[in-house]
Amino acid sequence: MAIFIDSSNVSEIEEIMKWGIVSGATTNPKIICSDGVCGELKPIITRIVELVKGPVSVEVTEERAAGMIAQAREFSSWAPAHIVIKVPISEEGLKVVNTLEKTHGIRTNVTCMMSFNQAYLAALAGASFVSIFYGRIRDMGYCAEEVIRQTALMIEREKLKARIITGSIRHFMDVNGAFLAGSHIVTITPPILKKMVWNPMSESTIEEFNKIWREMKAKGQIR
Ligand code: E4P
Repeated sequence: MAIFIDSSNVSEIEEIMKWGIVSGATTNPKIICSDGVCGELKPIITRIVELVKGPVSVEVTEERAAGMIAQAREFSSWAPAHIVIKVPISEEGLKVVNTLEKTHGIRTNVTCMMSFNQAYLAALAGASFVSIFYGRIRDMGYCAEEVIRQTALMIEREKLKARIITGSIRHFMDVNGAFLAGSHIVTITPPILKKMVWNPMSESTIEEFNKIWREMKAKGQIR
């Protein structure tokens, strides 16, 4: 199992990388917009690659296969060993995944997936990663954990190379649900990663122990 960071905010990524728990990053056009990225994308992505030293997903935004492939090759050239091309699921998208993985040797992450059917097709097309959108599946009234469970079983049974990334995490308990359902990776935003560390009983226990220590020092009981 692994944790990726779902962000394009370089300073937040830099800070959280120091925890030693993140092994990849995912971005999408909405994340890049809400993180306030302006101007050239290349220096931001190459800085994220330097920080993360693992797979960094960058999403294509063209809608026809030829345009997606051209965009993917451009993104990949920035750091071929690390950049993974996020391809939205669609008929055009499957063609792109098949071509990028099998002809160009470029890893893909098929994104925006809400069902087992989609994830199965993406894995068969040769995707290195299949991204299942936990929060958005729940928004439609379906069980995201069931989609993850079925996809994980199929990948295992058919010995496919795809790794499941669960994204669209809205609450830290979603992370537990995704991992327990069989997700290989969960991609998590910095605010939710911070909530995973925090617990009120841990806070009060740490404060209790430190207070006792300060009192012992004040009395000269310990040096
Ligand atoms: C990650 O790969 C996804 O793009 C991201 O987690 C989607 O999150 P959202 O559903 O909150 O937009």
